[in-house]
Amino acid sequence: MTGLLVSLLLVGVIAVILRWQRPAWYWMTFGVTFAALRVAVRYTSVMDACGLTVPPARWRLSLARMANRPVPESRAPRILRLRPTRTGLVLRLKLRPGQDAFDVASATDRLRHSFGMYGVTSRELHSGVVELRMTGYDVLRRVQMPAKTDHAPMRIPVALREDGSVHYRDYRAVPHGLTLGATESGKSVYQRNLVAGLASHDVALVGIDCKQGVELFPLARRFSALADNPDTALELLETLVQHMGDVYQLIRAAQRITVDVPDADIAADIWDLPADMRPTPVVVLVDEVAELALFATKDEEKRRDRIVTALVRLAQLGRAAGIYLEICGQRFGSELGKGITMLRAQLTGRTAHRVNDESSANMAFGDIAPDAVLAAIQIPTDVPGIAVSGDSTGGWTRIRAPHTSLRQAVNICNRHADRTPDVPALAAFRPAVAPLPSAAAPLAKTAPATA
Ligand SMILES: Nc1ncnc2c1ncn2[C@@H]1O[C@H](COP(=O)(O)OP(=O)(O)O)[C@@H](O)[C@H]1O
Ligand SMILES: [Mg+2]
Repeated sequence: MTGLLVSLLLVGVIAVILRWQRPAWYWMTFGVTFAALRVAVRYTSVMDACGLTVPPARWRLSLARMANRPVPESRAPRILRLRPTRTGLVLRLKLRPGQDAFDVASATDRLRHSFGMYGVTSRELHSGVVELRMTGYDVLRRVQMPAKTDHAPMRIPVALREDGSVHYRDYRAVPHGLTLGATESGKSVYQRNLVAGLASHDVALVGIDCKQGVELFPLARRFSALADNPDTALELLETLVQHMGDVYQLIRAAQRITVDVPDADIAADIWDLPADMRPTPVVVLVDEVAELALFATKDEEKRRDRIVTALVRLAQLGRAAGIYLEICGQRFGSELGKGITMLRAQLTGRTAHRVNDESSANMAFGDIAPDAVLAAIQIPTDVPGIAVSGDSTGGWTRIRAPHTSLRQAVNICNRHADRTPDVPALAAFRPAVAPLPSAAAPLAKTAPATA
């Protein structure tokens, strides 16, 4: 008897410690069962309390009256499925006549504490069917990406969403992206995650890092071209514009449309070309874009104009040629001069880390999702890496990338260094890298003994 009591006590203590220290483990051991039971037992009363029930149909009322039976109760949406996940529960509901998805969306906060969950979001799957995604704990506090993620070309699992699902950066669906955020808000870590994710894909990476290259040069082994100052950046971008022209020539040559070519085989972008002819896609990563757009002298102004023109051309025409832009900066508005808002309009994927003022958030979302602006300003300062990500459909979600250190990213890039494609056009910008440390002399020996 005492043995049983002691082991029960032990399990209880373990549960409390896990819940406090390792919420993810707690969820997978105890939390998920308790939560599923709680939802199943309380479902009808919670829905009633949250105003998500409808009165019984007229024919039921008449039937009850005729049969002299008690008046039937109001009905809650029917549960189609209750599925436990790694981070929470997914509840799929069939709405009753007269209800709409907006009713459920506006009740998510009430549902959240009624069911004792950490977060609840809802979305409409198709007419009349709504999915409630509930999380059992704060999944963004310590981001753990699931071991298994979807694998598709140019689709990178880059962060975790607040509803526990994986946030992908899909270059083929959203070719160009803009990442904004105050300094120390987590932009470079986000970009580093992208590089680490892209490293194992068949893609040429091009980096422009005018912060003397501190962020991207350590990853040089996986880069086909790098620039660390505005002059090189200009040459690099103009070379890319030329490369884009060459790719279009190639696509033109491959088209040769005749009547007997099936519609599906007519190539209009590189992904329609046969795999052996397809040029390598290029992702251009720009860190601290303002460095490219600011100028002090007349010469620098000319250079700036040419840089912005090249970027605008790449953004307008790059997608079909497989050239994708990923731009990071603290602000990206008209104060950076002419051409900037035009460039911004082409950058569909928007991500805003913590920003200091509303106007910075407006640069990311003002023109696509006004309520995301508020969410971006509310990001607290003590959790770097939290961001609001939206796209041109007006939808947005809170995300956080895993904390990949520079060392981890360097290791991943070195491991995939042999995947770095040789793009002849970019050969002049290929960073010179020493052989891997295993072959070279240890760093400590080459450094002077006295500092
Ligand atoms: N996703 C994240 N998870 C945890 N810590 C983060 C995350 N992103 C950033 N940080 C922390 O914030 C610091 C600043 O991030 P960084 O990306 O360099 O900011 P920025 O480039 O916006 O100035 C990093 O050194 C890191 O310690
Ligand atoms: Mg940075």
